[in-house]
Amino acid sequence: MSAVQHADALVLFGATGDLAHRKIFPAVQALMKRGLDLPIIAIARGGMSSESFSKRVADGLTRFGDAKDSEGRRRLFANLHYVDGDYRDPATFDRLKQELGTSQRPLYYLAIPPSLFETVTLSLNTAGIAQGARVVVEKPFGRDLESATHLNRVLHSVFAESSVFRIDHYLGKESVQNLLYFRFANAFLEPVWNRDHIHSVTITMAETLGMEGRGKFYEEVGAIRDVVQNHLLQVVAHLAMEAPVGRGVDGLRDEKNRVLESVRTMAGRSLVRGQYAGYREEAGVAADSDVETYAAMRLHLDSWRWADVPFYLRAGKRLAATATEAVVEFKNPPKQVFAEKLAEGSNYLRFRLGPDRVSIAIGARAKKPGVELVGRDVELYVSNSGDDEMSAYERLIGDAIAGDTTLFTREDAVIESWRIIDPLTRMNTPLHSYAQGSWGPEEANHLGEPAPRWRAPATA
Ligand code: BG6
Repeated sequence: MSAVQHADALVLFGATGDLAHRKIFPAVQALMKRGLDLPIIAIARGGMSSESFSKRVADGLTRFGDAKDSEGRRRLFANLHYVDGDYRDPATFDRLKQELGTSQRPLYYLAIPPSLFETVTLSLNTAGIAQGARVVVEKPFGRDLESATHLNRVLHSVFAESSVFRIDHYLGKESVQNLLYFRFANAFLEPVWNRDHIHSVTITMAETLGMEGRGKFYEEVGAIRDVVQNHLLQVVAHLAMEAPVGRGVDGLRDEKNRVLESVRTMAGRSLVRGQYAGYREEAGVAADSDVETYAAMRLHLDSWRWADVPFYLRAGKRLAATATEAVVEFKNPPKQVFAEKLAEGSNYLRFRLGPDRVSIAIGARAKKPGVELVGRDVELYVSNSGDDEMSAYERLIGDAIAGDTTLFTREDAVIESWRIIDPLTRMNTPLHSYAQGSWGPEEANHLGEPAPRWRAPATA
């Protein structure tokens, strides 16, 4: 097999968009600070002059990039080219071709609305600039099984699967990598990591933020498509997967995919949807919107390891805190040795997946000092670090430039995740209103037996 070669140009579609502004350019700046040096061709259809575009990028770097870095910033601007044009106009692609010059392996990054993925992909082909190229596709990848299947077909009509990079920034997070590492770099978890010892798994992705100007986009997706179909299912896959066999790129992806395949198709009372009070007054939101800003659900994995262990997931906007945590709760000891009655749920592993720290804690009972054999709940930190040193976007863009697909979602995984999600979005589940700053609708406590034991994410 020939070695994978680095891309020799980065072409960013959607260069004036919010994602480019907040995440992509700051990530590119960080990569350039680390030594990356390649032309960046930024394309947008906003009708902006090159000057105002540069100003916008500079503003984004100041607000969201590394304020202390000047070298990465200098290099970014030295490499930056701007093309303004309509994605539906072939002339835009002719201009892009000129800008690409002798580039043989451009990386196209589609940070554009999903409705334009097809047009841009096919136009790249028509303009004769798709060969040897790779493409990064932003989420949401489709809005259901059918559209995702169609999109895969369109992409594959131009690019081989090994050249398609479906981004889910959770896969690039230090904390998610740490979860994988912790599971498979230690031997002590494996004997208890199964239905004999685990009572349930709960995953919370809570955000205090609301729409922040994304109301129009959110109306198209809602919480289930925005973060459950991708980020939370990936966290489930990392928690539940078997150890990968072999070191190849596909070993890990195969095992994660098997977890998704094992998720039972959901029905009936396994979903609760909520909407925060005031959502309908947000800009871009319909006055009678039925879109959920909160979802809680119960999943079952039909596998020997996980049969009968419920996986509870919840995600919501305008909740009481911003934190993503996964808690794996162990069963109580089989026999009561001490006089005190042990509360359920004292033994657990808690993975803090962000935003501002990555930590792993073990919940246990420990004896209170004194003559009596009575205890208290304690937490032992087994790992605790500061903020992600490398942002998820920096890592993923770096990997895509290097041609490494390991941390990107493979075609079959995206299809499996829509197979799981589609029935949820078609259930006509009632929408419950919840107060801003709360933990979502009370109904989320009634998702079957055993009832979910939601915990507010830890403050430490
Ligand atoms: C994005 C969603 O994918 O993830 C947003 O579209 C959400 O709605 C964001 O706020 C959360 O990401 P992070 O990295 O801040 O946890």
